[in-house]
Amino acid sequence: MCGIYGCVGTKNAVASAIAGLQKLEYRGYDSAGIAYINGKNKIEIVKALGNVENLKNQVNEKVFSRLSIAHTRWATHGKTTIENCHPHFSENFVLVHNGIIENFEELKNEINEKTYSETDSEIIVKLIEKIYKNFSNNSMENDKKILFSIKKATEKMKGSWAVILLCKNNPKKMFVFKNKSPLILATNNKESIVASDINAINGDEKSKFKYFNLNDFNIAEISENNIKIYDKNLKKIKLKEIKKQCEIINLNNNYKHKMIKEINEIPFAICETKKRIKNKDFKKLISQMPSFSQITIVGCGTAYHAGLYGKYIFEKYLGVNVNVELASEYRYKTQIKNENELVIAISQSGETADTLAAIEIAKKKGAKTAVITNVCSSTITRMCDYVILTHAGTEVAVAATKSYITQILALYLLAYKTINKRISKNIGQVAKTIIDLYDYNFFKSFEKMQKFFFIGRLCDSASAQEASLKLKEIAYVHSEGYPAGELKHGTLSLVDDNSLVVAIITQKSVLEKTLNAVHEVRARGAKVIVLSQFDNEIKNENLFKLPKANEDIMPLFSILPLQLFAYNFSLSKGLNPDMPKNLAKSVTVE
Ligand code: F6R
Repeated sequence: MCGIYGCVGTKNAVASAIAGLQKLEYRGYDSAGIAYINGKNKIEIVKALGNVENLKNQVNEKVFSRLSIAHTRWATHGKTTIENCHPHFSENFVLVHNGIIENFEELKNEINEKTYSETDSEIIVKLIEKIYKNFSNNSMENDKKILFSIKKATEKMKGSWAVILLCKNNPKKMFVFKNKSPLILATNNKESIVASDINAINGDEKSKFKYFNLNDFNIAEISENNIKIYDKNLKKIKLKEIKKQCEIINLNNNYKHKMIKEINEIPFAICETKKRIKNKDFKKLISQMPSFSQITIVGCGTAYHAGLYGKYIFEKYLGVNVNVELASEYRYKTQIKNENELVIAISQSGETADTLAAIEIAKKKGAKTAVITNVCSSTITRMCDYVILTHAGTEVAVAATKSYITQILALYLLAYKTINKRISKNIGQVAKTIIDLYDYNFFKSFEKMQKFFFIGRLCDSASAQEASLKLKEIAYVHSEGYPAGELKHGTLSLVDDNSLVVAIITQKSVLEKTLNAVHEVRARGAKVIVLSQFDNEIKNENLFKLPKANEDIMPLFSILPLQLFAYNFSLSKGLNPDMPKNLAKSVTVE
């Protein structure tokens, strides 16, 4: 949430920051702002409400500047107003911040000064200012005073932050520090860039960059030609280079929205993941899988739904008990220690605050930890014993699509490889067939319904929950995703002739049982769509026929038409599916 970007030594620092922000926009799009050093060594600040395009329209991208910092906001503290928009400033400092300062009220009282915004970020800059002023009679160099001020401020701060700070008295440098929020540093020793995400990093000579992860409580002092990194005691240290950059799929940009582009990349993402998942950790994990007596899967939102599939496939083939937990609950619940427990986190971004916290807890209780993630440079990859990479390529649309499908594929491959079972062929091709088969007209007439229910049993109930989430997220309609057998235990009272019920039936063993639920909802007036490959068995239904494939991987396919339906529904309501209101991708705050 929130994206930050800073660059120094860049030929055109304003244009570079705006281009970087545009790539970070998936992290928040309530407002955006920039601070840059102009030709007279003065700091200029420009802010705009709404997305980065609005900011772009307000700044002169050609203005001379070799240093800038910028921010795209997802509001946590305070509404979307210009006052709350970053950069935030004090008498001598300007900063951009991603994260949440949990004790900001306490710090505000300590500062005891009038504030102009409702944000926690303003408190950071004012706190640093206050500490800095205490050094005013000290003969220390200005840089040292800044470093000490940052050190002392962060010792008081609680929560998460990635901050880029400028000081009016030293306009050639940026100071960068973090705790928990992600931050990547790229440099070629002339030009240096920091950003919340590796994919946002532009640069004049990007090919010559080396990339580094800044660690929590490190401080980086960055100028043209020089970078100094300090640990929390202000001792100089060296960072470890990130060896491998994540590949980006950029097949075709001729799509109206990122979401539809990413759905169309699914067949390729499947093939890439299938081909490239087998790294050292993957092999090690499949050899260890039989030794675990308990597996817990943690994740949030869509990743949690992938976890539900994981439970189905692991319990079916590995004969091991699997719990799936929402990471936001797991981190606070009573922990029961199990011998030989494996905790698997699923996270597209590898930065979700709750999922990181869940892994921290799992490690504390002595469990082995693994992550299935799409971002190889993410924080979670540095925490887990086993790192399983999906190769979906960069996903920036807020609604997860290709990452979800490759997470399911990763779980399927883990289960099948552990027991040496033959992997299905042509998975990518089947996905392509579904995208080609999909016809919006099939769904369109149901959009006038007021209530939407998705039902299924076993792994189809995970797909039902995911389909429902997609619809809520981008089409803003109320919907429910339910295990088919649960409807009659309460929710059926909502079903009437204003309801659409989508039944997903890909598992033969429960075909008839789910059809019972279909009859029950139809008897209450609901319209019904069935998604299934069992066309011989399912007669007289409004059937979206899925291609026939191994039942275990059908959840990869059955979700596809429903992702497309959510996308089209969003468009037909005149919405922007890439930027659903109130949401952002990569939820780095609690
Ligand atoms: C929904 C969606 C979210 C994420 C969730 C976890 O489309 O994208 O529900 O799945 O915020 O994010 P990651 O996977 O990055 O941990």
